[in-house]
Amino acid sequence: MTRKVMITDTILRDAHQSHAATRMRTEQMIPVLEQLDEIGYYSLEGWGGATFDTCMRFLNEDPWERLRTLRKYLKKTPIQMLLRGQNLLGYRNYADDLVEKVVEKSLENGVRVVRVFDALNDARNIESSMKAIKKYGGKYGGVCEAAISYTTSPVHTLEYFVRLAKTYEDMGADNICIKDMANLLLPYDAYALVSALKKELRPETKLHLHTHNTTGTGDMINLMAIQAGVDIVDTALSPLANGTSQPATEPLVATLKGTEFDTGIDLEKLIPIVAHFKKVAQELEKDGSLNPKVRQVDVNTLIYQVPGGMLSNLMNQLKKAGKEDKLPEVLAEVPNVRKDCGYPPLVTPSSQIVGTQAVMNVVMGERYKMVTKETKDLFAGKYGRLPMPVDEDVAQKVLKGETRITYRPADDLEPEYEKLKAEVEEKGFYTQEEDVLSYASFPEVAENFFKWRKAKNEGVDHDLAKSGVYPV
Ligand code: CO
Repeated sequence: MTRKVMITDTILRDAHQSHAATRMRTEQMIPVLEQLDEIGYYSLEGWGGATFDTCMRFLNEDPWERLRTLRKYLKKTPIQMLLRGQNLLGYRNYADDLVEKVVEKSLENGVRVVRVFDALNDARNIESSMKAIKKYGGKYGGVCEAAISYTTSPVHTLEYFVRLAKTYEDMGADNICIKDMANLLLPYDAYALVSALKKELRPETKLHLHTHNTTGTGDMINLMAIQAGVDIVDTALSPLANGTSQPATEPLVATLKGTEFDTGIDLEKLIPIVAHFKKVAQELEKDGSLNPKVRQVDVNTLIYQVPGGMLSNLMNQLKKAGKEDKLPEVLAEVPNVRKDCGYPPLVTPSSQIVGTQAVMNVVMGERYKMVTKETKDLFAGKYGRLPMPVDEDVAQKVLKGETRITYRPADDLEPEYEKLKAEVEEKGFYTQEEDVLSYASFPEVAENFFKWRKAKNEGVDHDLAKSGVYPV
């Protein structure tokens, strides 16, 4: 029986986020969008994640305008976005009215697959987003994809992930995604995990795998997951693939050709698109956004069980403290801190919190003598529910009587859309409802961008306006 494997290409989002700090411009995408639309991908990931921030901060682009442009050219292929649950496209918790608005506007402007995740895998933190996707998705044909943040720890067993996936399915997820952002998943574990999930999930639920090739295992992970029955995998066209990005699209298409898993994609159709992105990659390298080092295999994650980005942060922190020789002790302390705070997955922001605390514990010579505000908040439940209860003795020492919460962190937040809208209007920047959402996500960055946009529209020197020299 032929069971076609589908592909999501990340060339328009995660590929250049991973390789080039999300610096690809819309104009570098446009020339091949119509050709990409003809390939037959399950979806093209092109929005969300860091797109939103970098568009306004560095590229002087309205992220919503980018989305509308993508929509204009991609008539058949669903546009996919990445949403950080209650943190939306920013880094704090937002009130539910804002969550609903962001989801509604994303779908209205062209997104068709919304991948939503929570760093701690606290289902309550993605519930609002999922409800909104279900509410507005019907009108636009939007797919609700709930993603599991993959990690390894004594509590992150097959049973744990199956239970979580079933919870997300019961909450209304159309797709379940295994999101292996740190490339910690190993090929045989991928086989076991996908097999277990396919067995336990409903037949109509699609299983989607997202990994990276940082440690060089990415292609093997994808292939083992396909053998085990995964429905969709993420890859990136080769000019921005591998290393810290996704495994490459072309070799996988070639590998599966003529097998029961054939993707149905015509390799020859990819050739001109690949040639285009080769040029784009060269441009990104030339302007300093892409360091060729990101393409190399880095096995540190496999050795130390911490994500690549976290390891370099630890080394930087120790260097600053003049204690570079303490790295082995810090690496031994990371799993201890992680255990104390209930085994959070090591992804942003918990990777920074756990890492910084491990450094402090070692450098101070006494555990939890000094704690950061973020460590306190993590123990206090302010990021959400942790996979396991925290260590009580440590919690007493860290919290020093500070209140803990067991409810959903965003329950404390008052509606905020109308207030933010009034602010944007008062400042004279309001042109569309979407501006309020840009402003909510990154107030300063958005305001600078709005100044630039206004000056441009009025025909004055917009670069000066953005730098604050020219009053607008
Ligand atoms: Co990723």
